[in-house]
Parts: sequence; structure tokens; C-alpha cells
Amino acid sequence: MTDTASRHLVLVGLMGAGKTTVGERCAATLRRPFVDTDDLVEARTGRTVAELFGEGEPTFRAAERDAVTDACASPAPLVIACGGGAVLDPDSRRRLRSAGFVVWLRAAPRVLAARVQADPVERPLLAREGRLATLTRLAETRAPAYEAAADVTVTTEGRNPDEVAAAVLEELDRCAA
Ligand code: S3P
Repeated sequence: MTDTASRHLVLVGLMGAGKTTVGERCAATLRRPFVDTDDLVEARTGRTVAELFGEGEPTFRAAERDAVTDACASPAPLVIACGGGAVLDPDSRRRLRSAGFVVWLRAAPRVLAARVQADPVERPLLAREGRLATLTRLAETRAPAYEAAADVTVTTEGRNPDEVAAAVLEELDRCAA
């Protein structure tokens, strides 16, 4: 049994997994504030994710680490959607795990590639090589980090955002029981 009521609900996973859309829906149902770490990075630095990446990925990752630290420190339980690479940092991973109930939203790279194609959000990592090739590579290299960060896994394939949100909240309830 986990004390899920006082912990943040944290969504992790690759770009296109639906963390923001699903997170907003979970937050509405739980009546909790919603925080997206990319938005927090932009609010804290006054720069866009693309601008920070323009200075080199380490600049963005440092800002992302600070955003995760801030979000985790909130005394009120939040729903936190993490940028896809946030869990690569071991300190962020530890922080998210100790302050939150962490759900890994999964889908096959070809499903993620189709979703990000239809999404207007600018994602610098996907501008470098083909979307599918990048997502396939990241799915392989990042799987251990998602695995290490997550309390549970929820598949998003063949489910709409409301169905995924319901599945996430079911997991939260199940772990609280
Ligand atoms: C990134 C994912 C993006 C954003 C940045 C880098 C990544 O967030 O943080 O472009 O490394 O996977 P989303 O996962 O919300 O698209």
C-alpha cells in the first residue's frame, strides 16, 4: 500500500506518449494543480525549450533538473508531466520516485511518431533525424531509465486520452488500496 493521496502523480515516457494531455485530465479528475516540466522550464528561464537546446542540450537538461526539483518540492500534491528525457538524470529520478507515484506511459515508436507528427509542439530532438528513427533509438536507450523511475506502466496504444487517464487513475487507486 502506498500513500498516494499525499504524493504527486508523475507521468513519464517518450515524446508522444500523451503525458500532457493525460496529465491534464487526471489533474481535473483529482482536482489537483497540473505542472508540465517543459512549461516550468520556460517560465523559470524566460526562454523556450528550443532556445535552450540551441545553447546545447546540457543547458536545457540543467534547467529541466531545476524544474523537477521545484515541482517535487510542492507541498500540495500535483500531477506532473515530465519532459521525455527528465528521468535520464539520476537525481531527478530519485526525487520523482520519492515524492511521487510514477507512471510510465508506453506506446510503440511508430505510434509515438504518428502522434508527434500531428502535434504542433516543437521538439528539437526530433528535428535532427527522422522522427521514427529517433523515437526507435530513444525507446531502446531510455527504457532502463523509465523502468527504474516507474512504479507502474500503462499502455496507451489503442486507447484515447480519456481511457488512458482512467487507466492511470485505476493504477493510483489500486496502489492506494
Ligand atoms: C524531450 C522531450 C520534450 C522536451 C524536449 C526534450 C526528450 O518533452 O522536454 O524537447 O528528451 O525526450 P515531451 O516529452 O513533453 O515532448
